[in-house]
Amino acid sequence: MIELGVNIDHVATVRQARRTYEPDPAIAAALAEQGGADGITFHLREDRRHIQDRDVDVLMQTVTVKTNLELACEEQVLAIACRVKPDWALLVPESREEVTTEGGLDVASDSGRIAAAIERLKSHGILTSLFIDPDVRQVAAAAELGVDAVELHTGPYALAKRADVATELSRLEVAGQHASQAGMRLHAGHGLNYVNVRPVAKLPGVIELNIGHAIVSRAVMVGMKEAVSEMRRILDLCSP
Ligand code: PXP
Repeated sequence: MIELGVNIDHVATVRQARRTYEPDPAIAAALAEQGGADGITFHLREDRRHIQDRDVDVLMQTVTVKTNLELACEEQVLAIACRVKPDWALLVPESREEVTTEGGLDVASDSGRIAAAIERLKSHGILTSLFIDPDVRQVAAAAELGVDAVELHTGPYALAKRADVATELSRLEVAGQHASQAGMRLHAGHGLNYVNVRPVAKLPGVIELNIGHAIVSRAVMVGMKEAVSEMRRILDLCSP
């Protein structure tokens, strides 16, 4: 069975729009677990645009399935990872201007810094994963570093125009086969939704998918009717 990692960052995005206490990503994580999530993913970005340091501490105390902390190779967040010890650390590139993670790590040309981060995380008993483009060069470079998993970037597949979907899927398939053959766990994610997830879930060797925005978006929609009904009932009871 494919493992489902649910990324709850955008629950915190809604909260940070008002800098208040709701919605709480830890409560969303508990509900995601009830829905069948095998893991909870959260990205502590340098600019703290969604997940805050406190969220990381609370999530580490409350999540009962796998925890997967997404982070850049930066001293401050690496130190936090080594302190809180998630089950997994997922290393990603990060730039302040991007709306979301835009591309995979360039492991092939930045291996020194990434290798040092991996060693440090491993020495704290944390499993490591690298977010990379579906490119066999990057897969080979990741294998050289001895990581436990690679997460293939499915964003280009998710954004591909109809004529390019098959090409993007085949890039994922080839890179995935190399990763599995090299003995790494094969994860994938980014931009996956209720419409485009099936072909990726069926790729040979895929063990885990990480999905965030589509699930949080759907949660808003399927919960809207109930949320409005609850407010309606309160107002109805206030009527003279
Ligand atoms: N994997 C990585 C490395 C990511 O950065 C993200 C987005 O935070 C995801 C998976 C999930 O992507 P999405 O929110 O588009 O499902």
